[in-house]
Amino acid sequence: MKYLKINGNKEISGEISISGAKNAALPLIAATILSKNELVIDNLPDVVDINTFLKLIDMLGGSFEKDSSKSATAVKINTANINNTTATYDIVKTMRASILVLGPLLSRFGKCEVSLPGGCAIGQRPVDLHLKAMEQMGAVIEINHGYIKATAPNGLKGAKIVFDKVTVGGTENAVMAASMAKGTTTIVNAAKEPEIVQLCEIIRDAGVSVEGIGTSKIIIEGTNGKLLDMQNFSVIPDRIEAGTYMCAAAICNKKLKINNIMPQHLEAVVSKLEEMNFEVLQDETSITILPTTEIKPVNIITSEYPGFPTDMQAQFMALATQANGTSTIDERLFENRFMHVSELARMGAEIHLNGNIASIKGNAKLFGADVMATDLRASSALVLAALVADGETNIHRIYHLDRGYEDLEGKLTKIGVDVKRFTE
Ligand code: UD1
Repeated sequence: MKYLKINGNKEISGEISISGAKNAALPLIAATILSKNELVIDNLPDVVDINTFLKLIDMLGGSFEKDSSKSATAVKINTANINNTTATYDIVKTMRASILVLGPLLSRFGKCEVSLPGGCAIGQRPVDLHLKAMEQMGAVIEINHGYIKATAPNGLKGAKIVFDKVTVGGTENAVMAASMAKGTTTIVNAAKEPEIVQLCEIIRDAGVSVEGIGTSKIIIEGTNGKLLDMQNFSVIPDRIEAGTYMCAAAICNKKLKINNIMPQHLEAVVSKLEEMNFEVLQDETSITILPTTEIKPVNIITSEYPGFPTDMQAQFMALATQANGTSTIDERLFENRFMHVSELARMGAEIHLNGNIASIKGNAKLFGADVMATDLRASSALVLAALVADGETNIHRIYHLDRGYEDLEGKLTKIGVDVKRFTE
């Protein structure tokens, strides 16, 4: 297994370029199952989760290849020959997002089998809302031997889907399923994340009528079984990767410019950094964090977009250890998303947990230690803490980081961090 060794207390400076958004790319690759033609997706991040999803497309009978004639990050995908509608356990267990093939496979083929994703480090994460949405569109769902078996012999039918809870993946599956269904689907209490906006736009650009994009009510007129005329596109920048490097600047209290982003996707994160007394400069495609004379404590409540993202909570917890006072983080989306607390404590952080609320004591003198990555974003909190820790930090199980951060060491090295990867 690989681990990262970070030598802390180093100056950082310069600029970082942000990759394409993993969480946007995953449903977009799934949506290619609905495409009648081959297409090129540009700005695909080279991270393990994306490569796993491409492998899943390959296992279903589709094909993909790098398209270096276009760019280093472009991949050509062809799903015309998909002849297998089963997403097996060995692939789903490595990546929950595999559930995103449910909607498009069912919509195109009238049947599919997808292994149940099961729990994960950050909580139970059920898929009941995905299944209910498919049932409302006429699918029959059975759970057998750990597999979701879904059938709709006469195709899916448009329906009114009212989500009990705002769900990103559930909304994505419903949008994709509705695109080829017969009739109109209205999704109420839909998620509004930028990743869903891009998915809806790509489907609209493929000739489907999609109204209410970016609102909590999306209305889709399905094609009644006709494959979509999907066009080439480029994935939006990764707002969570960008937010993570913004926190790197803040925790080191140094100037850093984050390039190739859409600042409008980062309003909640910028606003919390401003509350912490950082000056944040913005233009159309970049954000610059400037150092401050005093890092102020902050109170954060995670919520759906456009609120503060749960995927940025761990990074702000690391940052809060350096504030002048006590901060609080109230995690409202996932029930077990504080795995990083005990690891940050090993580095000298004082964090008190009361249910879903963490109180983080500021002015902590962090020191290097051996720590364990537990999930993707928790791992990035450990990297941030290591940047200001006294001495060396070894972060083990970094495969979590590799799932979602492209060229992490390269980008950190470029801004002056002493970081190396080793094999245990
Ligand atoms: C996506 C993101 C993840 C982010 C999360 C919340 C991807 C690949 N992942 O995950 O990084 O942390 O949104 O912003 O885009 N729920 C149910 N039943 C369901 C579905 C969800 O109860 O059928 C619950 C979940 O347990 C959770 C909440 O709804 O408490 C939100 O989950 P959801 O928005 O679905 O998250 P994901 O799509 O899995």
